[in-house]
Amino acid sequence: MNIALIGYGKMGKAIEQIALQQGHHIVLKINSNNADQLDHLDKYAIDVAIEFTNPSSAKENVMRCLKKQIPVVCGTTGWKEHIGSVELATAQYNTAFLIASNFSIGVNLFFELNSYLANLMQNHTDYTIQIKETHHTEKKDAPSGTAISLAEQIIAQNESKKHWHLGATNDNTIIPIEAIRQDPAPGTHEITYSSSIDDISIKHTAHNRNGFALGAVLAAEFIQNKKGIFTMKDVLFKNNSLF
Ligand SMILES: NC(=O)c1ccc[n+]([C@@H]2O[C@H](COP(=O)([O-])OP(=O)(O)OC[C@H]3O[C@@H](n4cnc5c(N)ncnc54)[C@H](OP(=O)(O)O)[C@@H]3O)[C@@H](O)[C@H]2O)c1
Repeated sequence: MNIALIGYGKMGKAIEQIALQQGHHIVLKINSNNADQLDHLDKYAIDVAIEFTNPSSAKENVMRCLKKQIPVVCGTTGWKEHIGSVELATAQYNTAFLIASNFSIGVNLFFELNSYLANLMQNHTDYTIQIKETHHTEKKDAPSGTAISLAEQIIAQNESKKHWHLGATNDNTIIPIEAIRQDPAPGTHEITYSSSIDDISIKHTAHNRNGFALGAVLAAEFIQNKKGIFTMKDVLFKNNSLF
């Protein structure tokens, strides 16, 4: 598979390593110095573009690929408000798009666990819920996209929770998310249900970026030659390639 890496920072480099190990070719590497090359993308030379840049450039980068009918796997977090328009463009240009707030297989299993626990806890209103995430200090968005996904999963299961909020709150209908920035920390997420009697916590800790990179390459392999909008659930659970 011929891959274009849009964003050749910490994640782009980790993805390159894994992709080469899997026998893929990196045919283009883009960072802010050569972003003008996105005007000349060739859909016959690129099977999938993998985009990991920053929240201010992600939409434009993804749109440029979709317009050339190049399928895109996107990991950039913090630009959720624009994703609807990107999904419309995916249909308009009859191509494929997959975005995930977290590509790690472990975190995607953790998402399933979070949903299951939220479902079990939905009627136990004596428990308060808190989400805590810890990331390295270069991370631009807070809370993390993963923490937001975890909160949204809980809200979908628990009628008494209406929103999430960055920081503490006294409003019991809101899930507070604490975002800690310290080095080194590839990413830790913890959900705690607390009552006066006991606490129940689930926690995922990434040890390095390889899990995200492997998941992004798996997603690229999955999306190649497909049309439509996909999620990591499609990659990990529906085609049964891993489980
Ligand atoms: N979904 C997941 O599983 C997951 C996992 C980890 C990280 N992330 C997210 O992925 C994103 C990237 O993380 P990272 O740690 O790799 O960041 P990073 O090390 O800062 O790398 C960002 C890269 O994007 C490039 N870039 C910046 N502006 C650009 C533009 N306008 N056009 C093209 N390239 C541009 C940078 O180039 P220069 O160096 O030249 O500026 C750099 O190569 C972040 O949003 C992060 O939160 C997601």
